[in-house]
Amino acid sequence: MNGTLLEHASIKDHTTLKLGGSVRYLYTLQEVEDVIWFNSFAKSNNLRLIILGGGSNIVFSDESELNICVGLMDILGITKKEENDKDVFLEVGAGIVWDDLVLYCVEHCWSGIEALSAIPGSVGATPVQNVGAYGVEIKDVLVSVSCFNKETGEIEIMTKEDCHFSYRDSIFKHVDKYIILSIRIKLSKNKPKIPAYSGVKEYFEKTGNSNPTLVEIREAIQSIRWMKLPKPEDYPSCGSFFKNPIISNDQAELLKIKFPNIICYNMGNNSCKVGAGWLIDTAGLKGKMFGNFSLYQNNALVIVHNKEGTKKELDEVVVNIQQVIFNMFKISIEPEPIFVA
Ligand code: EPU
Repeated sequence: MNGTLLEHASIKDHTTLKLGGSVRYLYTLQEVEDVIWFNSFAKSNNLRLIILGGGSNIVFSDESELNICVGLMDILGITKKEENDKDVFLEVGAGIVWDDLVLYCVEHCWSGIEALSAIPGSVGATPVQNVGAYGVEIKDVLVSVSCFNKETGEIEIMTKEDCHFSYRDSIFKHVDKYIILSIRIKLSKNKPKIPAYSGVKEYFEKTGNSNPTLVEIREAIQSIRWMKLPKPEDYPSCGSFFKNPIISNDQAELLKIKFPNIICYNMGNNSCKVGAGWLIDTAGLKGKMFGNFSLYQNNALVIVHNKEGTKKELDEVVVNIQQVIFNMFKISIEPEPIFVA
């Protein structure tokens, strides 16, 4: 064991929502040996082990101390594993800050993740919810994930197919036995393409730049993103609090009669994804205060916390919003973050 094992440690400052009470044990994981040690420690104390990256998509309970072990992932390193005329393959430690990786790739003229600029959180968290933005998801560049299996104590390489990716979902959200140690991604050396997302295309049409560099694409994404999403350091939040719900095309057609402007993206398979931000906005809730929580004034999908609230209050706010949306559209919207109670 390399670091200091903290007992009865406060967790809220390890999350971007700034919510949560204390946990029984907190330990920083700087190398695989730390993961092995902390896993055996948790097992021998019969405690659940949870891994925290940037804490940008997680909500901890605050009622009484959580009798769990939390490992702060801090395994670093970006290593070039393979390179040919067209592509480069990188192995990236789970503890690297995601946006530092994006910047590193943009600076090296490797394209693939520039549309995922300015997303808070760590590299190891990105496969868990298949992070996505502006038409790109981590699954599009991911080759494999190196995981520590908490049950067997073995390191396993999971291919992209093993991860069962879908919209904001993967095996890691459903099976609690893997600790992500690193990811392997494939980036392109070819000229970058403008992300196929209307807001980004419009940005470059306005600036008259049809041939942007990777740096220019990153700058475009950063500016579009910060217009709509609060910087976590200014407004504690988890980014989008709700997932965009997926409904059948039949239900969408019925809704379009009453709400012709409803935002639906075709998903194939007779289903479509509805803009939850649009639903909440149309219900008149954007910018609304709910005690110590509010819906961000520029994006109804984001719940902002003034750092004085409790988990119980948040739960009530979430149910309240869900009910308003259900009553108006007959659609259930589900939270995107992971809840630890
Ligand atoms: N919209 C509204 N009102 C709002 C928010 C959005 O009408 O308050 C409308 C927008 O005008 C737009 C549509 O809804 O026509 C979609 O908005 P946006 O492009 O901002 O995307 P989103 O569906 O709200 C998703 C992701 C974001 C990601 C953006 C960009 C989810 C839950 N959210 O948001 O991801 O950055 O697309 O690709 O899928 C996150 O997961 O934390 C996150 C920020």
